[in-house]
Amino acid sequence: MRLAINIDHIATLRNARGGSDPDPVKAALLCEKAGAVGIVCHLREDRRHIKDDDVRRLRSIIKKKLDLEMAATEEIIGVAIRTKPDLVTLVPERRQELTTEGGLDIIMQKKFFAGVVKQFHQNRIPVSLFIDPVEAQVRASADIGTDMIEIHTGEYAEAKTAGEVKEQLERIQEMATLGKSLGLGVNAGHGLDYSNIKPVAAIKEIDEVSIGHAVIVHALSVGLELAVREMVGLIEKQ
Ligand code: PXP
Repeated sequence: MRLAINIDHIATLRNARGGSDPDPVKAALLCEKAGAVGIVCHLREDRRHIKDDDVRRLRSIIKKKLDLEMAATEEIIGVAIRTKPDLVTLVPERRQELTTEGGLDIIMQKKFFAGVVKQFHQNRIPVSLFIDPVEAQVRASADIGTDMIEIHTGEYAEAKTAGEVKEQLERIQEMATLGKSLGLGVNAGHGLDYSNIKPVAAIKEIDEVSIGHAVIVHALSVGLELAVREMVGLIEKQ
């Protein structure tokens, strides 16, 4: 299984001061250096974190795969077609949400998503659909010709009891197996962290996981001590 890192939170921090630091592109290069096979960024309609220029710079500077997470709106589709990421991951998007809250309903909007997948394929851009681990959604995704699915692991991450965790893992395992049997690439993501990743990493049908929040939070805690130490050194040496 491979790891892709979502760098949206770096852009959120950058935007808090309105300047250019921290730079999501620099962060992406560090992620690549550390072994991530791909960089994920979500260009939201309200541009609350990643901006168009970040996507453009990521496209030209990073060496590995760029996965552009996006809502299937006309405007963002236009940006994606112009930027040509290595993969687009289509997600539902609501302005009020703090993060993506659930998978796409491909069954209800089959015709619409079939058209969007076709449009990307005409532009030679592979497509992944972010869906809940539900059999009918996996089958509908395969029916409309997507290249990949990304299984939403949020319910697994939120599971409280051992029984719930087991049930959610089984759902993910079964839907990953089904996806593979239908010829799809299978990614997974949302809410994965250092304590819950191992059982997911053991599912051999999942090609790649996409992780953002947990890795950026951990980076702060492992990096903060050194950062303070360096500043103390600069100040106390005077
Ligand atoms: N996959 C998708 C489709 C997402 O929307 C997100 C959140 O941006 C992630 C993966 C990463 O989730 P997290 O930040 O919880 O690791």
